[in-house]
Amino acid sequence: MRKKLTIGLFGFGCVGSGLYEILNRSGLFNASIKTIVVKNKDKKRPIPQEHFHFDKEVILNDPEINLVVELIDDADAAYEIVTRAIRSGKHVVSANKKMIAHHLTELIDLKNQYKVSFLYEASVCGSIPVIRNLEEYYNNDTLSSVQGICNGTTNYILTIGQRRKSFDEILTDAQRLGFAETDPTLDIDGFDAKFKLQILIAHAFGVITLPEDILNIGIRNIKIQDIQYAREKGLKLKLIASSEKIGDKVIGYVAPEFVKENSFAYDVNYEFNAVTIEAAFSDRQVFKGKGAGSFPTASAVLSDISALQYDYGYEYRKKETTQLKYQKEFYSRIFISSTNPDKLNLIDFEQVEETFSSKDYAYKIGTVDFSKLSHQLYRDHPELFIAFFPEGEHLFRLAEKRDGEKCNKKNLHSR
Ligand code: HSE
Repeated sequence: MRKKLTIGLFGFGCVGSGLYEILNRSGLFNASIKTIVVKNKDKKRPIPQEHFHFDKEVILNDPEINLVVELIDDADAAYEIVTRAIRSGKHVVSANKKMIAHHLTELIDLKNQYKVSFLYEASVCGSIPVIRNLEEYYNNDTLSSVQGICNGTTNYILTIGQRRKSFDEILTDAQRLGFAETDPTLDIDGFDAKFKLQILIAHAFGVITLPEDILNIGIRNIKIQDIQYAREKGLKLKLIASSEKIGDKVIGYVAPEFVKENSFAYDVNYEFNAVTIEAAFSDRQVFKGKGAGSFPTASAVLSDISALQYDYGYEYRKKETTQLKYQKEFYSRIFISSTNPDKLNLIDFEQVEETFSSKDYAYKIGTVDFSKLSHQLYRDHPELFIAFFPEGEHLFRLAEKRDGEKCNKKNLHSR
């Protein structure tokens, strides 16, 4: 039996207006938008002004509205709306990855307390149905890794960048096309992908981390020589969000990687996203689709609305049973480059495999203790490009510092 949903919609930007249109076209019965609340009174919009309200209380205090769809940009305002809506006994659908990543534990507790559903498929990789897949289909502990291209803007920049437009020009294009965040540093510094990865880790492994636990290195510092280096080796640079189970630990990071032609990521171009899931018996599976944009993202919101008609809710079963712990310390094989060779010494290598130095470009490849890399290091030194090298050949080993064991090539293993 389909439940009747009376929707209060917050936000009428790229995704909100897309939802308005596809909800009307989808033939989804018993679900209709009653009220739309937006912030800006003067903004020109595709439907008449009388459809809009500007006071959030109009939705939050309306007992007839049983579903709040939150599609605004501001994570703090979204948090207030979502928590108040849940406390009023309303179901919530949100696409706000930043807000969800920062408050996931609290939001799960709250929605359990008030016995409502809180769904957010659109928050991760736009149109790709990955969260519900991790919840329902991979509802066991056989998963070993989840990796993805989770940010359309950076993938767009890296794709066009192979054809030599300036970074800023391509970023402006991505903003015009509606992929980039209002604050595009969230995209290019890897924060957006990190928020999404954090949500993926929660649903894949049942482990809830905080955003500050996951290292994010973005693509801001990429140089033309790095792209040339990749091209000469037959590789491509992609911003990869990666999580992996090793023993009873889970590791995660967002960083550029040199990927090979046989990688899931190699032919994922422009604003497309892809997620690859590795499990004990099904091996590798890849989901690819549009990760940003009006209709693709709205389609995930529509799917949540549709699921709510049948009282669907995430159960977080893995969270209840997992023995896994998030681990920040492990070793990895990286590439660093700089226009100033001295800057390569900023990172302490356990083992160096290759170095190159010319007048205006130098690089080093080798193994580092991952916990010594930091977002700040990358932000403070714009001439320093850091990438994992290459996908599929990382050397991972959990650091057993307590035992005083040293990292050496013999006891690293290849994944
Ligand atoms: N800025 C995001 C991206 C939008 O580029 O992927 C979709 O989450």
